[in-house]
Amino acid sequence: MPLHNHKANIDDLFTVEAMAKPLNVHKISRKERNPEAVYQMIHDELLLDGNARQNMATFCSTWVEREVQDLMQECIDKNMIDKDEYPQTAEIESRCVSMLANLWNAKECGDDPTCSPAIGCSTTGSSEAAMLGGMALKWKWKARRQSAGKPYDKPNLVCGPVQVCWHKFARYWEIELREVPMQEGTYMSSPEDVIARCDENTIGVVQTLGTTFTGHYEPIEEVHAALDTLQQETGLDIPMHIDAASGGFVAPFMHPEIKWDFRLPRVKSINSSGHKFGLAPLGCGWVVWATENDLPEDLVFRVNYLGGQMPTFALNFSRPGGEVIAQYYNLLRLGFEGYIKVQESCFAAAQYFAAGLEQFKMFDFLNNSSKGLPLICWKFKDSVSPPFSLYQLSDALRERGWLIPTYTLPPDCEKTVVQRIVVRHGTSVDLLHLLLKDFSEVIAELNENPPCAPDKERKSFNHS
Ligand SMILES: Cc1ncc(COP(=O)(O)O)c(C=O)c1O
Repeated sequence: MPLHNHKANIDDLFTVEAMAKPLNVHKISRKERNPEAVYQMIHDELLLDGNARQNMATFCSTWVEREVQDLMQECIDKNMIDKDEYPQTAEIESRCVSMLANLWNAKECGDDPTCSPAIGCSTTGSSEAAMLGGMALKWKWKARRQSAGKPYDKPNLVCGPVQVCWHKFARYWEIELREVPMQEGTYMSSPEDVIARCDENTIGVVQTLGTTFTGHYEPIEEVHAALDTLQQETGLDIPMHIDAASGGFVAPFMHPEIKWDFRLPRVKSINSSGHKFGLAPLGCGWVVWATENDLPEDLVFRVNYLGGQMPTFALNFSRPGGEVIAQYYNLLRLGFEGYIKVQESCFAAAQYFAAGLEQFKMFDFLNNSSKGLPLICWKFKDSVSPPFSLYQLSDALRERGWLIPTYTLPPDCEKTVVQRIVVRHGTSVDLLHLLLKDFSEVIAELNENPPCAPDKERKSFNHS
């Protein structure tokens, strides 16, 4: 019976004993407490968090449909790993993998459009998915070196400016990360820079479809062509993994002409975050390999203690099933047309915001959403010298609840300080209109009353 039909006492909630003093929150109390009071206190404490919808820094879902909320509630007890106990959840996960393999242009088996040699799984997000993709590259490289009787103790991974998950991957698996410095002007890697770092110990090249820093798509097709030339000249056959954390659910709908996926034969694996532009709630990522052969058998474990013989290749064991079900709901409910409509509206809202920001005549755009994701990234024009910094502008906007990140770019652009907003599902033109109004008021206030303390050195957003 629900709690509210079963009240333990008739006292007003705010007069019960548990409410009379601050909670001791560092030790588990000896006594149990009134559940309604504890719920209310935690609920109230969470008011102190920022408001997710005003968090313009995040790429992750902050708005979901009512049906997604209902499905999440219904799936609260489903464990993704118990594939024997919840065979339909497992089946739904594998249908999502098929849909994504198809979305990312994996080959079909013969004439059967429902069958693909691609293989993959859900994860908690792109970080876990990237880890799995990177491990497969390392294991495959090691096997090639072993069979050629060559040493395999100095693996390296070549990439453009990457998200911190790749720094973690390299450190955890003892791989030298050869990260191409960010170029002023393009803000990503160039094929020449990538090729210059490749050698016989390169396990693979990672390119990002929608970088964390500026939202640009890296030049994946050009890098692919440069790797072909490298192979012709040296015999080195280097595979690619694409970090499509955000772009994997944007490019297929908005930029289908861009070749970045399994259409390119060197692309052996792709990761993407369901919980970003895939529109699933938090906790959903995907990794897909072009064929079963690209996932080394050594990385697949088979367990028999859940009933049946279950292959597993994710890092986690127990994991909630709801996010995967919610992803499936979105794929079914929106289809191509729905995803196009949602992403188009994000781009339209992003362009509205960029046009509004332009009016202040003080910002230069690194990306005005025309070079990849629906993301706006800007810096002060070299010709202006306002009496406040971008950090101080962020702080002032924070007082109105907006989280607008200010950060320095990674090397070699570390002197460039930028701000960014990610326009995602649920960010309406009207909300951005209100944000622009706050920009206008805050800039006027800062001009009128410039902060007297000099701005302190802030932590950079790059993760090195
Ligand atoms: C390009 C890129 N890769 C990987 C990640 C990590 O993704 P997740 O937060 O889903 O683990 C992010 C997160 O922003 C990202 O932007």
